[in-house]
Amino acid sequence: MNTKIFVPRELKTDGIDEEVVKWRSPSNIALVKYWGKVGYQIPANPSISFTLKNSYTETEIKFVKKETANNFIDFKLLFEGKKNESFSSRVAKFLEDIKVYVPFLKLYSLEISTINSFPHSSGIASSASGFSALSACLVAFEKLINPELMNITAQKKVSFLSRLGSGSACRSVEGPLMIWGRHQNYRLSDNEVAVTPDLVLNDVFKGFQDTILLVDKGAKSVSSTVGHSLMDGHPFAKRRFEQANEHLAEMKEILQNGDLNRFAEIVENDALTLHAMMMTSTPSFILMKPNTLLVLEAIKEHREKSGLNMVFTLDAGANVHLLYPLSQKDKVMEFVKNDLVAYCENGHYICDELGTGIEEVN
Ligand code: PMV
Repeated sequence: MNTKIFVPRELKTDGIDEEVVKWRSPSNIALVKYWGKVGYQIPANPSISFTLKNSYTETEIKFVKKETANNFIDFKLLFEGKKNESFSSRVAKFLEDIKVYVPFLKLYSLEISTINSFPHSSGIASSASGFSALSACLVAFEKLINPELMNITAQKKVSFLSRLGSGSACRSVEGPLMIWGRHQNYRLSDNEVAVTPDLVLNDVFKGFQDTILLVDKGAKSVSSTVGHSLMDGHPFAKRRFEQANEHLAEMKEILQNGDLNRFAEIVENDALTLHAMMMTSTPSFILMKPNTLLVLEAIKEHREKSGLNMVFTLDAGANVHLLYPLSQKDKVMEFVKNDLVAYCENGHYICDELGTGIEEVN
């Protein structure tokens, strides 16, 4: 993709002195994971994810025209009503990195306020929802001053900017499924932006549920930036990248034919591979906690006994996402409450399901 299309040619800002935009963006959960980069925020392998609904970030930006245009990025940020140094410095770097695509930051100061629907210390990464909500606001404002920015390009630009903030964020823009990274079996798939895959999702996946078991609410022991970099020179990296491509190829069939047994095998294998890569990198990281293993064992055992189509997956942390069809919700939730809650920190879990991506908040 030629990313020059994201550089605005002319901006018409006359009469636009103060404007407020507000967008919501959800988190997403990868079925085939992105782990490892080449160059600047280009994935070493393609990934595919379900877009979530209830775990989201809501961001409001007030754009105020500067008295004189300058090259400084001027913003104030409140996270859940308070100043937040670490998030502010990530946003400062992000805005600096994307400057060429949002040249109107020379003309406007920003007052950003952002909240998450999920608790602050829940161990749920907010970078995907956070950067996509922020990017949605920037593009929404650009639409007011750039008459050339068409809807399709605008949607792609949200994904493109989000990716520059946090790779997986680019997959939160639409739903229920998004693929990011070039794969020969997926038409239009791209390294620069995530797209909706060209497939007809089988009905068994409609309304698919994701119960997020909060085994450990602490901060991750390794940042994703460090985690991705540990794939450089990793002895098993080449095979892992090939495997992810194979998983993507088969996943396209499964999502259409609804084979939930094979779905479980691939999704679980992919998540465990990510953890295996971290365990075998130098330095190594064990991201699961003892309770993570107890949850995985309990899921496997109960699946065997009950025949329920429960599937687990993990991101680069200790919490477990339990995916299952809507039709089995009552039975799975009974199992969660009776057997899994005991392994969750303070008994906490989050109920989520498939969603549709970013939306404007009025
Ligand atoms: O978006 P990042 O750079 O924080 O990477 C996160 C990658 C995983 O969540 C572990 C996997 C994925 O594809 O979402």
